[in-house]
Amino acid sequence: MNIRKAVIPVAGWGTRSLPATKNIPKEMLPIYNKPVVQYIVEEAIGAGLEDVVFITNRDKKIIEDHFDYNTQLEVVLERAGKTDMLKEVRAVAEMANIISVRQKRALGLGHAVLCAKDIVRYDDAFAVMLGDDLMFGSNNGIQQLLEVARLERKAVIGVMEVPLEEVKRYGIISGKEISPGVYKVDSLVEKPEIQKAPSRLAIIGRYVLTPYIFNYLENQTPGHGGEIQLTDALQGLADNQGLLAVKIRGKRFDAGNWAEFLAANIYFGLQDPSLHEELEQRLKALMSFGMN
Ligand code: G1P
Repeated sequence: MNIRKAVIPVAGWGTRSLPATKNIPKEMLPIYNKPVVQYIVEEAIGAGLEDVVFITNRDKKIIEDHFDYNTQLEVVLERAGKTDMLKEVRAVAEMANIISVRQKRALGLGHAVLCAKDIVRYDDAFAVMLGDDLMFGSNNGIQQLLEVARLERKAVIGVMEVPLEEVKRYGIISGKEISPGVYKVDSLVEKPEIQKAPSRLAIIGRYVLTPYIFNYLENQTPGHGGEIQLTDALQGLADNQGLLAVKIRGKRFDAGNWAEFLAANIYFGLQDPSLHEELEQRLKALMSFGMN
C-alpha cells in the first residue's frame, strides 16, 4: 500500500485553551521546548510518512512558517556561533514536505478531511492525525495503524478504552475482536450519552483512511453539533469496504485539557537530563508551598 501523506487538520478555534489561544493557534502552544504540532509531525515522520498536509485557515500561517527556514534567525545564530541551535531550527524546516489546504469554512472534522481530497485521492491510503491527541513515550501511534493497514489492506482507526463517564467526549465504536487488540468495526457513534454508548472503545485522533472515505464525506449530512462528522462517514467504510480498529499501545494525552497539557510539559521537561534535577526540586518545593 502506498501511504505517504499525513493529513493534519489545524483549522479549529481552540476555544478550550482560551485565553492563551486568542491570537496564537492552539497547535503552536509549547510543550516543553516544541510546539504541540511538532510532536505530531515528528510522529508522522518517525512512522515513515513524508508529506504533511495541513488543513488550515487564514489565521494559521504561523504553523507552516514553523516548518520553513527562518533565514534571518539562522544568520543571527550563525554569527553568534550557536551551531547546535542553528542545526535544530534547520532540522525543523527540513523535517517534512509541507502542503497546505485552506478549509474556508469551519464545517467540522469530516469537512476538514474532505478538503484534502485533491491531494490524496490517488494514494492507496493516507493518515489523518489530530493535533489535540499526543502520544507519550516510545510507542509511535500512527505507526501501529500503518502496520495493520498494510497487512490487511483496509482502513484502520486508533482506539483506546476510556472510563464510561468520558464516552461523551469521543467517537465510540462497537466491533468484534478478530485478533488481540484488533477489531472489525460494526458501528460508530459520535459523542454518545452514556446509555447509548456501544462500548468504552473511544476513537483517538489517529486514522489510516482509503480514498473511499470521500464518497461518504461528500454525501454526509451534519451530525453531532451540526457539524460534518468524520465518525459518521466512517460508518460507510465499515459497511461497504470494511474498517478495522487498533487499540493503540502507549499513553496518550489531550492537549486541549489544561491538566493534561501541564502534566505533559512536566513529563517532557523531566526527559531532558540537563533539566531533570532542577525541575524535580522545583516541583517538590512547589508542592510543599501549596500545602502550607
Ligand atoms: C474528534 C472526533 C472524535 C474523536 C476525538 C479524539 O473529536 O470527532 O470522534 O474521538 O476527536 O480526540 P473532537 O475532540 O475534535 O471534538
